[in-house]
Amino acid sequence: MRDTLAAPPARTQAPLHHLTEPQRLDRSLIEQLLQATSDFEQRAGQAQDRLQGRLLATLFYEPSTRTRFSFEAAMHRLGGQVLSAQNAGQATSALKGESLEDTIRVVGEYADAIVLRHPEIGAADRAAQVARISVINAGDGAGHHPTQALLDLYTIKKELGRLDHLRVALVGDLRHGRTVRSLALLLAKFPGNELVLVSPPGLRLGDDVRGAIGAASIHETDDLTGVVPRLDVLYQTRIQAERFASADEYGRYRGIYVVTPELMRRLSEHAILMHPLPRVGEIEPQVDADPRAAYFRQARNGLWVRMAVLDWAMTP
Ligand code: NCD
Repeated sequence: MRDTLAAPPARTQAPLHHLTEPQRLDRSLIEQLLQATSDFEQRAGQAQDRLQGRLLATLFYEPSTRTRFSFEAAMHRLGGQVLSAQNAGQATSALKGESLEDTIRVVGEYADAIVLRHPEIGAADRAAQVARISVINAGDGAGHHPTQALLDLYTIKKELGRLDHLRVALVGDLRHGRTVRSLALLLAKFPGNELVLVSPPGLRLGDDVRGAIGAASIHETDDLTGVVPRLDVLYQTRIQAERFASADEYGRYRGIYVVTPELMRRLSEHAILMHPLPRVGEIEPQVDADPRAAYFRQARNGLWVRMAVLDWAMTP
């Protein structure tokens, strides 16, 4: 506590390090952050004074387990402290009608960086426009989730040894799934990657992401079984129930793709199965024992990645 009192929020003139959209990450920044991630993982116990005396505000207007806990664990492991609002739509003055912008302006007076999860696309960008401190997007509706995409890259690099010339299937709700939208953009920054987009026609990846990637490296299908044998990465996702207009519409897609032990027999020995989690039936629990099932290792990597991102965001 003494350290926090001794160190008021930094008011530096240096440019802020916002991370709102994956396009903010060019290849050299990605590589810098992945290197820092690896350093934090290898020297986990030696970083306790990196952000001593700093305060992180986590503002979550949507549910979260992994993202909030790993950001908060990362901040504590870096020696900093955390101000946390979960269920922020109900627990902050948002309930009284305060705008996101005003909330961000005020929290910016108390903390040194903000991690924001919000149901509206573009919310993190709006926050960054008014914030006096760095804003990190922890998910803006059906928009983006850049730190998840970074931890996905870190996982692929660790598991397969490279980030280029990979054949990656993104499976499920590609229309609303912010993790796949961000991951597709980051994978496209490395040479030779082929994306196989597996979704029903109504849940296809948006034109904004598709346009940024370029059609040459994209294949599209609704047939999961057929594409599995030639993949390096099978990236399964949840149908995003909360983004549909009605329960009926969600019901049309629920359970459409399920990874079973039988499907895993078609996947190469060297390939991996990823999922950002939470899963709600789209990977059967019997698959967990398969060494290619990487999703819990992937979740663990979130901690190191978020240590690297917070260190970058709070260091001028
Ligand atoms: C994802 C999210 O919130 O977008 N979860 C996560 O951060 N790991 C995926 C999801 O909710 O389906």
